Amino acid sequence: MESKERIALIGFMGSGKSTIGRILAKRLGKSFIDLDEEIQKESGMSIRQLFVNFGEDHFRKLETIALKKAAEMNQVVVSCGGGIVEKSENLRILNENFFVVFLDVPFEECYRRIYGDRSRPKLDTDVEQLKNLFNRRKKLYLNAADVVYKPEKETEQSTAENIARVILEFDQL
Ligand code: S3P
Repeated sequence: MESKERIALIGFMGSGKSTIGRILAKRLGKSFIDLDEEIQKESGMSIRQLFVNFGEDHFRKLETIALKKAAEMNQVVVSCGGGIVEKSENLRILNENFFVVFLDVPFEECYRRIYGDRSRPKLDTDVEQLKNLFNRRKKLYLNAADVVYKPEKETEQSTAENIARVILEFDQL
């Protein structure tokens, strides 16, 4: 049976969406799209430049445009930015067009991976605020997800393999 046509990976910054998404796409024989990369290509600016020059709202508009475009593609794995769940319009697009996988990685692990990364403007704050953002968004991720995957101590390769298996099993239902 055909595997799900469009897969979206959601989760907090540093949860591994892009790396795992790339491997997952290969494993399922689909194309891979990273929404942040698409936004940067289209605008000719880095995410930080977009935030600094035009503000977060403008970035969010571009993000929704990129998500809509991805929703029109066939056989694709999409890695979404961590803030994709902030807009109800995005939640609707995800719900109607994608099989949504939430990468459920604890805050401490995400933070360890992204700490000091200047390319992520949402990190320009203190750890407490970031933890609040994480906690608030976690509920949104859980609500939006068709499947929640919690990586244990495993490689990104085996996370992608396990997610692929879950997706293929869902197809048998
Ligand atoms: C953001 C996450 C980033 C990127 C932008 C905003 C967020 O993507 O879209 O910096 O609001 O969490 P990653 O989750 O891929 O880091």
